Amino acid sequence: MTSEKNVVILGIESSCDDTSAAIIQNGIIRSGIIAGQKVHEAYGGVVPELASRAHQQNIVPVVDQAIKQSGLSIRDISAVAFTRGPGLLGSLLVGASFAKGFSRALGIPLVDVNHLQGHVLAHFIRENEQDNRKPSFPHLCLLVSGGNSQIIRVDDYLSMEVIGQTIDDAAGEAFDKCGKVMGFPYPAGPLIDRLAKTGNPHAIEFNKPRIPALNYSFSGLKTSFLYHLRDQLKQDPDYTEKNKADLCASLQKTIVDILTAKLIRASKETGIHEITLAGGVSANSGLRDEMTLQAQKRKWNLFLPPLKYTTDNAAMIAMTGYYNS
Ligand code: KG4
Repeated sequence: MTSEKNVVILGIESSCDDTSAAIIQNGIIRSGIIAGQKVHEAYGGVVPELASRAHQQNIVPVVDQAIKQSGLSIRDISAVAFTRGPGLLGSLLVGASFAKGFSRALGIPLVDVNHLQGHVLAHFIRENEQDNRKPSFPHLCLLVSGGNSQIIRVDDYLSMEVIGQTIDDAAGEAFDKCGKVMGFPYPAGPLIDRLAKTGNPHAIEFNKPRIPALNYSFSGLKTSFLYHLRDQLKQDPDYTEKNKADLCASLQKTIVDILTAKLIRASKETGIHEITLAGGVSANSGLRDEMTLQAQKRKWNLFLPPLKYTTDNAAMIAMTGYYNS
């Protein structure tokens, strides 16, 4: 970590379909702005070319608002951190080019940040001077999003190792694609979460993968869900509509069970009981409830991210830039 007295980092995130800017001062959040992109809803997924164009429109007003909201001046900024990857190339280029120009114009350092490291370090963002409950090292982070499902052993702010990951689709993709076949708009995860609350999680049994070690697989579940719908729709064309809540609850339970089983195994194998969740799917209420139960049962010290830091945001990029600078 940097030893300077007053470090103000402007973070910029543009890896997928959210344009975000945030200011972190000495590890404390001062502002955070996110502009989402509704344009993809009609397509059932993010359209890369449309995402890049929307980032181009959003980036200047989003950064401007973040600086204004922080109450600091542009001259107070010590460094600019941006998402280098992974992500959509065109989207990343918008953020990277803007950040480069900004750092050149102000003569301040430019720090490139790995997006996934950002999700892990979101737990270290402090809301104010009194906010001191943070995970210690080593800890295990279950990082679950639209593009990734990983178990990461985190030994220090910048020292981490992926010890398990999906061999095909991510958990978020399973939510989104199964939602798509039920006719839900993208991203379907939050809607499935809502509908699951009124359904029976034991109503339908979907196939669970048998994957070695700490790895995951979700493509078989997608197929199992699709075949189930196909067979039922042959008998009753209104099957999906009539059974939406049960379908969502059963799907969610299956995904949560798969994620939880490997995390328990990782904790047993490493002896680590300090556990964090990160990424868009960590907003899922079923997953959060199950992890809370497991934490009580297994004496884990569990850290659930605030909802605002589960999906893509620039605060986590600024925070990672802070530790990198
Ligand atoms: O981390 P994130 O914002 O970025 C990508 O990886 O794109 O994660 C987005 C993913 C989507 O798949 C979305 O459906 C999922 O997170 N998601 C959820 C929930 N909120 C977002 N999945 C299940 N339940 C939720 N409440």
